[in-house]
Parts: sequence; structure tokens; C-alpha cells
Amino acid sequence: MKKKIVVLTGAGVSAESGFATFRDTGGLWEQYDVNDVASIEGWYRNRKLVLDFYNQRRAQLKDAQPNAAHLAIAGLEKEYDVDVITQNVDNLHERAGSTRVLHLHGELSKVRPENGIYDRTASEAEVIDVGYGEVHVGDLAPNGSQLRPHIVFFGEAVPNIEKAINLVEKADILLIVGTSLQVYPAAGLYRYASINTPIYVIDPKPVPISDGRVTMIQDVATKGMEKFLEMLANK
Ligand code: APR
Repeated sequence: MKKKIVVLTGAGVSAESGFATFRDTGGLWEQYDVNDVASIEGWYRNRKLVLDFYNQRRAQLKDAQPNAAHLAIAGLEKEYDVDVITQNVDNLHERAGSTRVLHLHGELSKVRPENGIYDRTASEAEVIDVGYGEVHVGDLAPNGSQLRPHIVFFGEAVPNIEKAINLVEKADILLIVGTSLQVYPAAGLYRYASINTPIYVIDPKPVPISDGRVTMIQDVATKGMEKFLEMLANK
């Protein structure tokens, strides 16, 4: 049976594809107020501002390409049973070829009705793929309500967290790439790994995770993945 690698990624894995991270210098949360564009209160205050913000992100995604780190993560599937859990709303893991990707914070290319079944049931039945297109105030879902980004805003529950916990519990190896581990519940996921599960962390900056199981690979995602693959090969 193939060993199971669970990969938890954050904005840093897409940085070398040209996407600004959130909390680094020059990051998105320096340019925008997170409470305006990515919170549920912000949505009810000014839907146009929020829709425009995500229209821009979608347009930017259209021109972005997966980088060598996304490709290396997809390549792990040749020898391992791989699940990717990502906090990213981009689709670069899928475009690199990863076949099982769980999005914790939603997906840029999807929208859903503001008043729909998702918030109560987490059923994706009403979720619509808009690709890289724009969504505006007045664009309605088939149920007649305003379309909103299929994004987990600050202040909302994270419906996929239980699935993510189940995956991490089963991991033989946990790999964490490019996340500052500051946003819960995603930041606490590694604690669900079994006591014998080695944890590798790839990030150019020190990440606040003190755990005896951790091997730090202090580098950018593309170089860090090369080092990780060498370590796997020499095991
Ligand atoms: N390669 C790998 N890691 C990198 C690179 C790179 N080239 N460049 C930066 N990083 C690292 C940073 O050092 C930092 O630790 O990526 C991490 C990015 O952290 P954040 O900007 O906080 O992003 P993330 O952890 O994904 O944020 C979590 O917060 O705002 C929300 O919903 C948003 O999903 C996001 C969540």
C-alpha cells in the first residue's frame, strides 16, 4: 500500500506564481482592509467592493501559472497516496495535476447564492463555476438571490475542517508549505497528525510551530520542494 502524504498549503506556495501573500511586506492585507473585502460584515456593508476585489483576483488567476512547487506536489502522486489541503482559493494545485484538493477557504472561480442552502448544509448543489468571469451586484442565482463569492469570509465557519482533520489523522507524512499558521482552524490542523508522523515545514521565514516531529526546510516553495524530495529519497 502506498504511504499517505497530506500536504497543507498556504499563500506561500503560490507566491512564485506571482501572487502576493497576505501577511508579508507588500502582502494583500497591507493594501486592503481585510474587514472590508474578506469579512462577512464587509460583504453586507458593501457588496460591490467585495465583488470587485474578487473580480480582480479572478482576472489575475487567469494569467497565472502553476510553479515548480505545485508541480512537485502533484508529482508526489506517482509514488504516494496524496491529499492536498489548501487554504488558497486559487486553482493552481488542480492545474498542476493534483487530483485530490480540499479547499478550506473556498474557491475563486466559484460563486453561490447569498441566501442558499450552503450555509446551513455545506451542500455544493447551488455552487456555480464562473471560471475567470466577473460577478456584479444584481447578478442573481437561479433561486433569485444575489451571487456571492464561494469564499469563506472571516467571521464564517469553515465547513471543510472536519474532512481536513480526518485526512491529517491518517497521514504517514505531513508536509506544510507556505503558510504563516496564523489563521485558525487551519493553523491547528497539524496537531491531529499521529505521534509518529513526521512533519516537514517549507517556508523562507521561521513558522510558529514548536513540535518535536517537525523538520524545518527554510526556503522558498520551489527550492524547498526539491530539498523535501531529496529527503524522501534518502529516507
Ligand atoms: N515560498 C514559500 N513560502 C513563502 C514564499 C515562497 N516563495 N513567500 C512567502 N512565503 C511564506 C511567508 O513566509 C508566510 O509564512 O508564506 C506564508 C504566507 O503567510 P500568509 O500571508 O499569512 O498566508 P496564509 O498562511 O496562507 O494565510 C492564511 O489567511 O487571510 C487569510 O484566507 C486567507 O487563506 C488565507 C489565510
